[in-house]
Amino acid sequence: MRKSSSFTKVVCLAGPMVCAASVFGAETVWLSSLDLTKMTSGWSVPKVDLGVVGKPISIDGKQFARGVGTHAKSKMRLDLGGAGKRFFAQVGLDDSTEGHGSVEFLVTGDGKVLWRSGLIAGRQPARSLDVDITGVRILGLRVTDGNDGTGYDHADWAEAGFVMQDSASLPVPLPPLEPFGPKAKNFALEFEVGDDNRLYQHALGAGSANEPPQRFDEAYPQWGDGYVWEPALQVAHADGNTSTTLLYDSVTRTNEGPARELLRIKLRDPAYPFEVTLCFRAHDERDLVEQWVEIKHRESGPVKFERMASSALLLSPTNLHLTHFFGDWGKEMQPTTEFLTPGTKVLDSKLGVRAHQFRNPSFILSLDDASSETTGRVLAGSLAWSGSFQCAFDHNGRSVRALCGLNPFASSYLLAAGETFTTPRMIWVWSNQGLGNMSRKFHAWARDFGLRDGHSTRAVLLNNWYATGFDFDFSRIVGLYDPAREIGAELLLLDDGWFGNKYPRVNDQAGLGDWQPNRKRLPEGLASLAAAAGKRGLKFGIWLEPEMVNPKSELFERHPNWVIAQPKRELEFQRNQLVLDLTRPEVQQFEWRVIQDILSVPGVSYAKWDCNRYLTQPGSSWLAPDRQSHLWIDYVHALYSLMDKTAQSFPKTELMLCAGGGGRVDYAALQYFHEFWPSDNTDPLVRLPMQWDYSYFFPPMAIVSHVTHSDSLPMHFACAVAMSANFGLDLDLVKLSVEDEAICAGAVAAYKQVRDVVHFGDLYRLENPHDSPRCALNFVNTNRSQAVMFVFQMRDSQALPVRPQGLDPVKRYAVRQLNPAPARPALLQEAKSFTGEELMRDGIVPNCGRAMEACVIHLSP
Ligand code: DGJ
Repeated sequence: MRKSSSFTKVVCLAGPMVCAASVFGAETVWLSSLDLTKMTSGWSVPKVDLGVVGKPISIDGKQFARGVGTHAKSKMRLDLGGAGKRFFAQVGLDDSTEGHGSVEFLVTGDGKVLWRSGLIAGRQPARSLDVDITGVRILGLRVTDGNDGTGYDHADWAEAGFVMQDSASLPVPLPPLEPFGPKAKNFALEFEVGDDNRLYQHALGAGSANEPPQRFDEAYPQWGDGYVWEPALQVAHADGNTSTTLLYDSVTRTNEGPARELLRIKLRDPAYPFEVTLCFRAHDERDLVEQWVEIKHRESGPVKFERMASSALLLSPTNLHLTHFFGDWGKEMQPTTEFLTPGTKVLDSKLGVRAHQFRNPSFILSLDDASSETTGRVLAGSLAWSGSFQCAFDHNGRSVRALCGLNPFASSYLLAAGETFTTPRMIWVWSNQGLGNMSRKFHAWARDFGLRDGHSTRAVLLNNWYATGFDFDFSRIVGLYDPAREIGAELLLLDDGWFGNKYPRVNDQAGLGDWQPNRKRLPEGLASLAAAAGKRGLKFGIWLEPEMVNPKSELFERHPNWVIAQPKRELEFQRNQLVLDLTRPEVQQFEWRVIQDILSVPGVSYAKWDCNRYLTQPGSSWLAPDRQSHLWIDYVHALYSLMDKTAQSFPKTELMLCAGGGGRVDYAALQYFHEFWPSDNTDPLVRLPMQWDYSYFFPPMAIVSHVTHSDSLPMHFACAVAMSANFGLDLDLVKLSVEDEAICAGAVAAYKQVRDVVHFGDLYRLENPHDSPRCALNFVNTNRSQAVMFVFQMRDSQALPVRPQGLDPVKRYAVRQLNPAPARPALLQEAKSFTGEELMRDGIVPNCGRAMEACVIHLSP
């Protein structure tokens, strides 16, 4: 250990603060002689040759004439330009703490820890360090709080100095690198550039950073150069090198509109003309961040991507629970919640098309054990991608990384020089107050940005699918018009079965691909059906499935090579159909023409875009042999271009997204659609939990819910369930009993009365259908003047009061039941008026206690 008494010479080089001494022939620079304004301190400011409280430095009774007194958490970065030899000091807690406090001192070189003191408590002797810093460019000095908070953490770097090489420049204190990142009102992601120039993320939920970042903290980890966990990026460069190194380059911030900021962090590989930009769009009020990645290069040939995640978010693993949603046809969105343990949990789809049949790419991470509707820190994630996806939660024992994006499985992708690859968007929504607050923010964002025309009212439609199936003709459909109008419907949607002549679509075995109206069924085509609807004041909509073909079709006879199939393999069918290869330009033109022709028919103002199979034989006769794996990605991009053209060219046409039910429900497709068909299962008892679970991510105005013939269940109950989302009917109105007709007509009228509250209001989920005999929820409009509450009795139980939420405590609301079920007593509080506070405190006693009874209550001035 050098002492000041060993100096032979002291020189002052550049002003009073910068002094160097020659020790054994080499230049020594005292830390206290450098610009300490660049050192951070958790309290007060660092002091020259004094403890942080301004008294002489004293550690365990021993005084030091020289040094720096600071306070945890403290950091300093110095540029040594590789010219340092040694750094030495005696460190400890200053005696001014009177025995309190605990800290740890660390010395890092270019991001690597060179020396750490271990935990030091008050009244412990100073610890000596003498560290070899040969070749180090950036030296870091850090004092942590010992992981017990910063109270009394007066930390002394006593007798601290550098031995530099002969005639080396002085160490240059660098400005502290402040964490930065996208920031919304209550939600921020914190990044930090390390001394090795890599970009690091501070794990969400981990408390404030103490330790210097380490490789497993990398913000967007790359494969092949030191990172050994699940990477976000894996590429083979044009010269075959399978490693990538990404160093920080720059950051830009753009104000995109009120409370909306785009942050772009550019990273570069120092050895290749290869750059990656991490993009974040923060929506301040919504605590929502959209995240994606843009990658480009100028290498001598194509770069091969094996994986390129949209997001590689780091979270603290403490108490981290994951809720995800699995299912199948007719059983969509079944939730399961699990505690994440070390290892990798993967949610994925390898289906390519109708990719969400078994899993939705939306999930919830709860940071405080299992969260509730009103408590807990929760982060919802939803990947905007309609193809094969992967959300992997890689728990390495210290942190959890959520890697979300395209499924890397069998999907390597060649990117030519000069092209940019943009990953799908990942959407993150944060709440400090549980799931309800999270969903309300998600819904508000969706109305503004996630859905088409999110601020316009959706029509009440009558569909014919459950009423007629494939068995209809012109007069059968027109026969539904008058009853539809009388019951209050606004639109008639004609489903599958209206097309095909050589191979008529009279069942699901033939006709897909031949989109000419069937001359026998509809001799005058679609226009006359639409006109007949128009005459009665009804709008008209049509079903289509443009991506598919039946082998029994004229289209397949003409173009057998247009389908996605593997050569030398027997064709595999689902619902007797095959997927058209949208990567092929002729198929793109064909599908676009089909859509244009159908939606241009006068009077057609609505369409249901269906998709009833997934990929099992992923081969394209269009793509080159070395690009077969592009199919998964190129198909979806071509699909979006088709959807985009449709939305642009038919701005007034309302569109429903459907894939044999909820096989395609994500925010990439939904930006072109007004709503989605969540499931072919319309049993209200199944729909209640399903709609509840979809509503974590999607606003009820987008969740289509139709009343169908469900003989075993009372019509009143079924209507109430549909009214709590985007209401419609799918009934043979001609055959409806007088009683049911009255109930349906009452439901339509009641729904229209509160439709805007349901569509545009805030949703409060009150009683969960998964774990209670009844389900309850309420919506409140924006100015809190009106609310509507739904109570669904699933099993018999006592009719206890239901407490609405979100009302204005001081406003008065009159209680009125809408469309009451026949022969049930009126509500106890019917027509009485209460303050919001009273209603939220005392609740409303519903007049339903028996299974399959429901009650819809309007609260208005
Ligand atoms: C599947 C959809 O989910 C149904 O609603 C219906 O449109 C059928 N396809 C028609 O084939």
